[in-house]
Amino acid sequence: MFPIHRDRRLRTNESIRSLVRETILTPNDFMFPMFIAEGTNVQVEIPSMPGIYRRSIDLTVKEVKELWSLGIKAINIYVKVSDNLKDNTGKEAWNPDGLMQQAIKAIKDAVPEMIVMPDVALDPYSIYGHDGIVENGQIINDATVDALTRMSVSHADAGADFVAPSDMMDGRVLAIRKALEESGHPNVGIMSYSAKYASSFYGPFRDALDSAPKESGVPVPKDKKTYQMDYANRIEAIKEAIHDVEEGADMVMVKPGLAYLDIVREVKDAVNVPVSVFHVSGEYAMVKAAAERGWLDHDKIMIEQLYCIKRAGGSLISTYFAKEAAILLNK
Ligand code: PBG
Repeated sequence: MFPIHRDRRLRTNESIRSLVRETILTPNDFMFPMFIAEGTNVQVEIPSMPGIYRRSIDLTVKEVKELWSLGIKAINIYVKVSDNLKDNTGKEAWNPDGLMQQAIKAIKDAVPEMIVMPDVALDPYSIYGHDGIVENGQIINDATVDALTRMSVSHADAGADFVAPSDMMDGRVLAIRKALEESGHPNVGIMSYSAKYASSFYGPFRDALDSAPKESGVPVPKDKKTYQMDYANRIEAIKEAIHDVEEGADMVMVKPGLAYLDIVREVKDAVNVPVSVFHVSGEYAMVKAAAERGWLDHDKIMIEQLYCIKRAGGSLISTYFAKEAAILLNK
């Protein structure tokens, strides 16, 4: 007797393995999340994210040119504004001369083909560190959506290719789509963070922007669980993604990445738009920390993780590893 199936034949050597490989990773699969700081010639490394910096616009533009030369075609941008610009309305978010708007303009001037996707959420502008406006200890939905539409239009006015609402308010995709159409931006797209979980994997990101929910004299929720999703749920993720596509999202996102690949696959099967995945700050930090101790092979783990995200159905991966991975893949 011999085994009926000799599945190992297709794994005999690298030639046959490369012929039957189902997933191929390239720098075109990546988006690079970037943190923008005020000032000029500023570059501050985020302690919990080795190799990732908060940079002023001038240095960001330099970096974007380099990313473009490596084959990276999209960036997500986040800003850290000074505390005196924060309040409960988030109105700095739609200041036409705000840090985000200036950054979008400068990047699009320098590298017009780079797809720029600014983050749309109030947390970097909120005295409470919340993604929405707080009233009587609650995050109020509809007034927050109004703020997000203004913010989105101001990003589009500045030259953004896509806006990326990451706030998880209800109805924001439809409201943003309507506002973009009415303000003469029919070609500006929406990449919606549709299935965004209330996750502890965002810790290092909140360090980077100093945006963790905080007490500020008045009682506010200590976490984001009334708008971000419960990590015990899956049906809800599919529902959120379907709603966002119905409301006009061009792409949807699942976030975080690796611990949520089941959701990535299910959302991918449920909607007919590209599904992007955010390989978030905490996932990056874990690999860096283990590699620093010599406990994991950094480059191999990085590439394996990115392949697995793509295999699960992620068409676009937002990852802090984008630059390092592109350098390695281009070799
Ligand atoms: C803010 C936002 C967060 C992230 C992206 N946009 C943090 C949060 O929701 O608290 C997290 C990204 C990361 O951890 O890399 N709306």
